[in-house]
Amino acid sequence: MSNDITFSIIKPDALGRGDAARILCRIAEAGFSIAALKMLHMTKTQAEGFYDVHRERPFFPALVEFMSSGPVMVMVLRHQNAVEEFRHLVGSTDPARAEPGTIRAEFGTDVRMNAVHGSDSPENALREASYFFSSIEIF
Ligand code: RTP
Ligand code: MG
Repeated sequence: MSNDITFSIIKPDALGRGDAARILCRIAEAGFSIAALKMLHMTKTQAEGFYDVHRERPFFPALVEFMSSGPVMVMVLRHQNAVEEFRHLVGSTDPARAEPGTIRAEFGTDVRMNAVHGSDSPENALREASYFFSSIEIF
């Protein structure tokens, strides 16, 4: 399994505040290159499909509501050991617990509105990338 790509979303909270460009700068400065990028506004059904693994979690309805509440930026990022490196850059799920200097510490609001998504395994990175992009859109 290739481990040089991860999948990320700049979530509706961060995009709505106008933080997308600053977050993209942080990602580029950390050495990631952009292999695919676009903006879209997920329907509830599309958000449910993306977060299908969390369907049984108590926070699932609120998560789907949030992720379909406004436009997002979806992207595929390239870096050596991309999944692990990106989760390190992003920080803990709860911005209040995220390490200083991480994207969530700087741009997140709370445990749900935490500014960015990052894949949790190379397998899920491929699944998530292909949820939004066709193979000819990933460079
Ligand atoms: P992500 O998938 O977005 O990168 O975040 P993560 O791995 O750090 O966290 P995960 O457990 O996969 O949860 C997915 C997203 O659900 C929302 N969430 N809300 N207690 C709550 O209300 C709660 N817990 C999680 C967050 O938006 C989280 O990123
Ligand atoms: Mg996750």
